[in-house]
Amino acid sequence: MPELYRELINLADSDMYPFHMPGHKRNVQSTPLKGAFRCDITEIDGFDNLHQENGLILEAEKRAAKLYNAEKSFFLVNGSTSGVLAAISACVKENGTILAARGSHKSFYHAAYLRHLNIDYLPIKMLNEYGIFDGYSGYDVERALDEGGRAEAVFITSPTYEGRCSNIEEIAKVCHRKGIPLIVDAAHGAHFGLGEGVPDSAVHLGADVVINSLHKTLPSMTQTAIIHINGNLIDEKKIKRFLSIYQSSSPSYILMSSIDLCIKEMEEKGEAYCEKLLQYRNMVGKEAEGFENIRIPGTDILQDPAKILISSRFSSMTGQQLYDILREEYHLQLEMAGEKYALAIITGWDTEDGILRLISALREIDARGSSVLPEMSAESDNEDENFEVCINELPKRALFLSEAWDDDKEIVPLSECEGRISGEFINLYPPGIPLIIPGEVIDKKLIEDISRYLAKDLNVQGVFQVKNGENKGIIGKRGLVCVKPK
Ligand SMILES: Cc1ncc(COP(=O)(O)O)c(C=O)c1O
Repeated sequence: MPELYRELINLADSDMYPFHMPGHKRNVQSTPLKGAFRCDITEIDGFDNLHQENGLILEAEKRAAKLYNAEKSFFLVNGSTSGVLAAISACVKENGTILAARGSHKSFYHAAYLRHLNIDYLPIKMLNEYGIFDGYSGYDVERALDEGGRAEAVFITSPTYEGRCSNIEEIAKVCHRKGIPLIVDAAHGAHFGLGEGVPDSAVHLGADVVINSLHKTLPSMTQTAIIHINGNLIDEKKIKRFLSIYQSSSPSYILMSSIDLCIKEMEEKGEAYCEKLLQYRNMVGKEAEGFENIRIPGTDILQDPAKILISSRFSSMTGQQLYDILREEYHLQLEMAGEKYALAIITGWDTEDGILRLISALREIDARGSSVLPEMSAESDNEDENFEVCINELPKRALFLSEAWDDDKEIVPLSECEGRISGEFINLYPPGIPLIIPGEVIDKKLIEDISRYLAKDLNVQGVFQVKNGENKGIIGKRGLVCVKPK
């Protein structure tokens, strides 16, 4: 059994290059926080307390707020996850309603579960050319708010995992006209607003609460994040209360000092960091212009320069093959693979050598063209071969998420699920959309869709094998978790 520490050291000593989170890229020069154990303390005298800060930590948070132009910023040591949970809990009353996109991160659904919320959904919008989620306009949100009529807050993810942005300025105006707060999950946008040429931050664009994972795109340790609040629609005391519920009572000083150092680094060198990021992005973009088989959408489509989506849609490769080739043949570890793309994260702490390795690998892979998988045609006549998630109609809801998730459940063979209430999330990755959530009714189309995705070997999470049943013939068949009938 490999030891975690030894494996980590092996990885650090290998030539595997990280095109994925965290933003410090295992580059030891990225932070002065070496010898972390020497600084690992608890709330001793003189070191303040994250949950009731009035000294060192408060000062550090004020510096962060200044950097991001926020009225208040609070450090998070349990990732954006804790910020999303606290923001939603503070902005929406128990049993209340929130408007959000269906493809929101699981921390959003967990907040809805914990607070027994009703979720109104924005219509699903996809960039079908790449099989990823699209952003939203003010009009989209206004229409959905008018249709639902009850939402106490709006929750928007911008940028998305793949780097697509919503029109936060317009959406904030719509929310404020209706007197409700806009919460922006900007977990992937901690670098926004910190330099010229990168998109503006949601704080600046008028959002009431913005949550950033520092660890995703800035030089800061995993789990470090920050929540910013603005305006008078937010009850700061409530946010603090929920943060102290959802975060450890022993917050790590290593993580907090990593946040502080990261903020200092961005205060002093944020412009240069963003400049470097854009320079790397442009190097990749320029090279990609000459590619014949793989495509890399520009920042006109994916506004976040930290995301390089390498699309294999016009080649014979799947995203997973592209990802595997980059990993196995070129020792480049990407962030994730989609059906027809692989996703790399770049930051201002990448090295030019790393970027050149990526460019050279992509050039070679592109030159191989459609010879990679001769049995698949580059542009299939069969539409079904081309990936498109067509989820337009959401399932009907019979129970609240919180009721159904807590209820007694059983695994029912897929073919017998029609009309049953789902007891689990069933997610399709990518794009990471819940096909159904607990409390919704499984219909015939969903069963057909799930069967189709499984037949195509897509990553559908939440499908299990039937373990027992009166009819022994069904044991081992694929099944879904359903709420037990009363
Ligand atoms: C869109 C989005 N929101 C929130 C989170 C949670 O962030 P963290 O890992 O910092 O808790 C993630 C994590 O991947 C995410 O992708």
